[in-house]
Amino acid sequence: MKKPKIYITRRLPDEVVEPYKNQLDIEMWDKEEEPVEHSVLLEKVRSADGLLTMLTDPVDEDVFMEGQHLRIVANMAVGYDNVDVSAAHKHGVAVTNTPDVLTDTTADLTFALLMSSARRLLEANHSIQRNEWNNWSPLWLAGSDVHHKTIGIVGMGRIGKALAKRAKGFDMRVLYHNRSRDEEAEENLGAVYMEFYELLKFADFVVCLTPLSDETYHMFDKEAFERMRNTAIFINASRGATVDEKALYHAVNNSEIAGAGLDVFEEEPIGSDHPLLSLPQVLCLPHIGSATVETRSNMMRMCFDNLIHFFEGKPLISPVNK
Ligand code: GLV
Ligand code: GLV
Repeated sequence: MKKPKIYITRRLPDEVVEPYKNQLDIEMWDKEEEPVEHSVLLEKVRSADGLLTMLTDPVDEDVFMEGQHLRIVANMAVGYDNVDVSAAHKHGVAVTNTPDVLTDTTADLTFALLMSSARRLLEANHSIQRNEWNNWSPLWLAGSDVHHKTIGIVGMGRIGKALAKRAKGFDMRVLYHNRSRDEEAEENLGAVYMEFYELLKFADFVVCLTPLSDETYHMFDKEAFERMRNTAIFINASRGATVDEKALYHAVNNSEIAGAGLDVFEEEPIGSDHPLLSLPQVLCLPHIGSATVETRSNMMRMCFDNLIHFFEGKPLISPVNK
């Protein structure tokens, strides 16, 4: 049987790709650090049976129009807002993501972002680099406590629950808001469900982990920030567009909230001229939630395993559309 033709939109490491070459006819975009040009993707998809895509690739209607033989898109992320899933459905193309393998890694990063923001680690590091450690004073670089505080998790999925577990270890009170109640989180983690605005009122740390959708677009807007405590720290590790960044800038700059830790932005990548970077109380990271060598390799393998399952006619490991 002819091997299915797979186009991969980024250069992935040989040691991960090599074992799959027995079963798949693989072609890769040759750059590791730059996304594929959309025109190249549109050309490559014409002869592809499957795509392995990154969160930086818009997999839109045009891709499905050109991909006459395309049967499956394996997206290397848990989020798949970059894929037009309804267009995929219309064209009969399966879509998979990479849940589970990145849950703990992303929860670790989210908690690290929370801790670093609360304890002002980046400012502290910068102060030494700027030779400002000349003296010591009682309130120099004093941040806020994390232990015994209240965390409000918006989006209680797998990552939200893994984050709640970490918060429990720090004796935090856990509030959550989600589309539906989560009995498991309530029973096993003692998480307390609240309406969105109620959670914003009580949380010391408001953490966004909800997927991006039409309903969650700009859910953190001017009004949401106004409802938070003046001492609150906002953390976002889901997708940038859940936040109105202008409203966030305004809220921090006017001390309506104490600070923010952000791993994601509305338009990625951002540069050093992004307004939020000019605020010392805002810690910005370049979308590294799942970025460990182990987890990124597992995510790549999960994409390949989905592709192989698909072409062998086995059930997909992680379909996002049925
Ligand atoms: C990363 O943001 C992911 O969705 O996996
Ligand atoms: C992602 O895996 C989530 O459900 O939070």
